[in-house]
Amino acid sequence: MPEAASRRDAPIGVFDSGVGGLTVLRALRAALPAEDFVYLGDTARLPYGSKSAQTVCRYSLQAAEVLVQRGVKMLVVACNTASSVALDALRERHARLPVVGVLEPGAAAAAAATQNGAVAVIATEGTVRGGAYPRAIESLRPGLRVVQRACPLFVALAEEGWTDGPVAEAVARRYLEPLFSVPDAPDTLLLGCTHFPALMAPIRRAVGDRVMLVDSAATTARATAEGLATLRLAKEAGIGRLRLLATDGPERFARVGALFAGESVAAEDVELVDL
Ligand code: DGL
Repeated sequence: MPEAASRRDAPIGVFDSGVGGLTVLRALRAALPAEDFVYLGDTARLPYGSKSAQTVCRYSLQAAEVLVQRGVKMLVVACNTASSVALDALRERHARLPVVGVLEPGAAAAAAATQNGAVAVIATEGTVRGGAYPRAIESLRPGLRVVQRACPLFVALAEEGWTDGPVAEAVARRYLEPLFSVPDAPDTLLLGCTHFPALMAPIRRAVGDRVMLVDSAATTARATAEGLATLRLAKEAGIGRLRLLATDGPERFARVGALFAGESVAAEDVELVDL
């Protein structure tokens, strides 16, 4: 097979700190049904959100290495924390591999959505500390006001499956009401973490109907599709296959992952790998 054709037929690698990135994978598979995907969840080392930038960078390079070994033609960093601290290092280490992160598409969607010029970003502690979202949003539309809040308990709630009900509702109100009950409150809320779309219902109730909720799954899928088309790497036909890899606990990956994937996941289909 000529080299260009075999590259087109290679899978797309996607990685996240765990199962939350399956929300991004779901959007990717819907947008690119012919493509094969290899998804790696670094479940042994989740959460990334509470770790230092150096550690997340090191973990991200190791995760990418596994996917590169599997011959991927493109890398999608589905984890917001990894996207906010490791994209430059990944692009430097794998100079010939196109790397798409959730950060830039999410920032672009939020910058385009706001009408009153104020955006709120909620994410993990690491993403908020690094300030990558405000930098990306302000560079796209200088003059926008960006406020941030770390919401680490949302990750735990989503992993526990407590995505609605009184506990999720109380946590959402505690985190979000201070951002939205002030004069000149943002009219746009960017969900800057893989897990947060799972808590859409309590988040919506806490912020009210008038705030636009933006998440990066669909925009990242679009950016990936555009990247493939520009580089002439899109697979032309067929039904895409999926390979799931995890660094710990295929059973837990399958059980919790189903919530994010929107479909059942069988533990036997999850391959345990070491980084
Ligand atoms: N995947 C992470 C993110 O999107 C959330 C979970 C974690 O802290 O590892 O930031």
